[in-house]
Amino acid sequence: MDETDTQLRGRIAAELTRTRARSAALTEAVDEHDLVRQHSPLMSPLVWDFAHIGNQEELWLVRDVGGRDPVRQDIDELYDAFRHPRSDRPALPLLAPGEARRYVGTVRDKVFDVLESVPLEGHRLVDQGFAFGMILQHEQQHDETMAATHQLRSGPPVLSAPAPPPAPESAADGPAEVCVPGGPFRMGTSTEPWALDNERPAHSVEVPAFWIDTLPVSNAQYAAFADDGGYTDPRWWSEQGWAHRTEAGLTAPLFWTRDGGLWWRTRFGVSEPVPADEPVQHVCFYEAEAYARWAGRRLPTEAEWEKAARWDPESGRSRRYPWGDTDPGPEHANLGQRYLQPAPVGSYPAGASPLGVRQLLGDVWEWTSSTLAGYPGFAPFPYREYSEVFFGPSYRVLRGGSWATDRAAARGTFRNWDYPIRRQIFAGFRTAR
Ligand code: AVJ
Ligand code: FE
Repeated sequence: MDETDTQLRGRIAAELTRTRARSAALTEAVDEHDLVRQHSPLMSPLVWDFAHIGNQEELWLVRDVGGRDPVRQDIDELYDAFRHPRSDRPALPLLAPGEARRYVGTVRDKVFDVLESVPLEGHRLVDQGFAFGMILQHEQQHDETMAATHQLRSGPPVLSAPAPPPAPESAADGPAEVCVPGGPFRMGTSTEPWALDNERPAHSVEVPAFWIDTLPVSNAQYAAFADDGGYTDPRWWSEQGWAHRTEAGLTAPLFWTRDGGLWWRTRFGVSEPVPADEPVQHVCFYEAEAYARWAGRRLPTEAEWEKAARWDPESGRSRRYPWGDTDPGPEHANLGQRYLQPAPVGSYPAGASPLGVRQLLGDVWEWTSSTLAGYPGFAPFPYREYSEVFFGPSYRVLRGGSWATDRAAARGTFRNWDYPIRRQIFAGFRTAR
């Protein structure tokens, strides 16, 4: 049954509230000093992300969709991500934590008012609640960014969560890789209501047959590469990758150290042995590429990844998610910061694709070999700065979402990107051939 207008409004309100609870928890976990300080030059102060979330919400939902007067026009410049690089943000005259909380609260009150009164049809920005969906995905994306800032923070732990359960017995049963037959498939979407501009439009792509890992690469597999001298043999690295490895002095994933013949890591302020069967995370694109070459394999292209994740060989259709068209539940994938780490490889059999590829959504973002480009027929919407300004050779595409990605911002068509040297994101990979 189709959702009524009242149900849609109710769903948006519930999603906004659920999302704000996460932003609040991430910012209430630390004291004022930790909110305003720089934990890494790669990241904004937490209080910048928080007020920026409110400012984007004000710009799009209060002023644009709602047609209301500005709440705080004077601060737009401070929270414009294109004006100030992350490393400079701690020095800006930012709203203090208390002011920031009042500001985002005032904006949110107005947004609930707007949500009750504006039509959710008639033009593209509001059709099926798009602008609200875009803004709540934006908040969830910044929540994931704040989780990465927490991981870079030094000091006693402030976040906690249960450990994910061990992988089911069936984890060991399946094949290590599957063949995805060649032929066309529909990539991207023209129908998913809250899909962002770079996921559109749906278009046919011819993908030759390829093999892809059924599981993400594990810490044990990655450690074998490191222990085999993978970091000191230029044969496995691209020219750019080797240059970066050398200059940055990379010897292991970020947050790993070697102690007494064992690999240890720090995770949200806790030091622990690296769990062998967890998907590797905090590796950059160049490390993923080098591992793949060492293993006699390569990274999948973005089209291969999406075909493995969405293509249903029986119907020839592309699904919304690997398991089908139903929204993600806790049985499908490790999403939404339910845990503070990926689940063991082989988890979530109910989330497998038709060909038996597991953990495509959640756990770790997966590096692909593709650079970020618009699909044929791409049109920026509603603003060029969401994606179009990042198109080009500088960024590599990541797919699938991590354990810190919310279900609102994870789907078979969702595209993420970053510089190939970045490691603070919750990214790993799987290989293909
Ligand atoms: C799509 C994750 C690369 O965090 O830079 C947040 C999302 N865009 N605010 C980012 C985003 C504007 C973006 N990524
Ligand atoms: Fe943003």
